[in-house]
Amino acid sequence: MTVDIDGVRLHLAHPDELAVTWVGQEEVMRQLLASWLVVDEHDLPMNPRLLGKPGVGKTTLAYAAAKRLGREVYILQATVDTRPEDLLVTPVIEGEARLRYVASPLVTAMLRGGVVILDEGNRMSEKSWASLAPLLDNRRYVESMVAGIKIKAHPLFRLVATMNDDASTFDLPEYIHSRLQPQITVDFPERHEEYAILKENLPFGEEQILNFVTDFLQQAHSADERYTVRDGINVARFATKLQQMEDHPMGQSDALRMALLQVLGEEALRYVTRF
Ligand SMILES: Nc1ncnc2c1ncn2[C@@H]1O[C@H](COP(=O)(O)OP(=O)(O)OP(=O)(O)O)[C@@H](O)[C@H]1O
Ligand SMILES: [Mg+2]
Repeated sequence: MTVDIDGVRLHLAHPDELAVTWVGQEEVMRQLLASWLVVDEHDLPMNPRLLGKPGVGKTTLAYAAAKRLGREVYILQATVDTRPEDLLVTPVIEGEARLRYVASPLVTAMLRGGVVILDEGNRMSEKSWASLAPLLDNRRYVESMVAGIKIKAHPLFRLVATMNDDASTFDLPEYIHSRLQPQITVDFPERHEEYAILKENLPFGEEQILNFVTDFLQQAHSADERYTVRDGINVARFATKLQQMEDHPMGQSDALRMALLQVLGEEALRYVTRF
C-alpha cells in the first residue's frame, strides 16, 4: 500500500497480528485507555509510557488495549541502533538511480489512524527521540529529512511507549519525559490473576503444574525478585514437555525442579516451598 504526500510516494508497513488476550489487571488497562481518550474537540490524546520489569506484560497490555479499540496495531521495536530515519522514513534503492521511500510502522500508524507501540523505548538514543518531539505535543506531526516532507498524524492515531526499569538503558531527557505522560506502572499480578494468565497462555498445562508455578511466582514477588509471568510460562511449558517425553517421561516433581533450574537457575529454588 502507498500514500502520496507532497509528491513523494510512501510505501506503508504491515500491521502486526498477535494472538493475545489480556487477563485480569483491569486497572492498568483502564488507565491506558483513558489516556488515549479524547473528551472534547479541543482535547488531545496523551502519549502514555508503560513501565515495569521485563516480562510483566507491557507489550501485551499495549497490544490488547489497541485491539479493544479495534485499531490496527504497529509495533516498532526500539534498540540502541534505532536511527531517526528508522522511526520515520527510510530510502531504499530500487532499480537504477531510483529511490523507494518506506514508511516506518510509526509513520504508517500515523497515516492510517492506527496505534503504534514504541517497544522498549528506553533503549533508543536521545537523538532518535528528538525527531519525535513535535509528534508528542500539540503539533502532532513529524518531519522526514530523508524524504523532505512533513507528515501529519491522523486524528485517530495513538502512541504508547513501553520501557523496562532495568539498567541497560538511556536516561531520557526531561523534554521527552514530559511528553510521554502519563506513566503507567505494570506490576506483578495477584495470585488468582497470575494463575489465570498462566492458564490463558498454557491452556493445555496441568493444573498442578500451573498451581506450583503460581505459588513460586507469588513467593518470588513477595521477595521483590525479578521473576515475572514470562519466566513462569517458560518453567511451566518446559516442565510439561519433560513430563510428556515418550521414551523417558519425568515425574512431576523432577520435571518442575529441572525446569526451574534450567530456565531460572539455582537461585530460583529458594522460592519453592514444596515439590
Ligand atoms: N495480564 C496478562 N494477560 C495475558 N498474558 C499476560 C499478562 N501479563 C503477562 N502475560 C504474558 O506474559 C508474557 C510476557 O509479556 P510481555 O512480553 O508483554 O512482557 P513485557 O513486559 O513486554 O516484557 P519485556 O520488557 O521483556 O518486553 C507474554 O507471554 C504474555 O502473554
Ligand atoms: Mg515487551
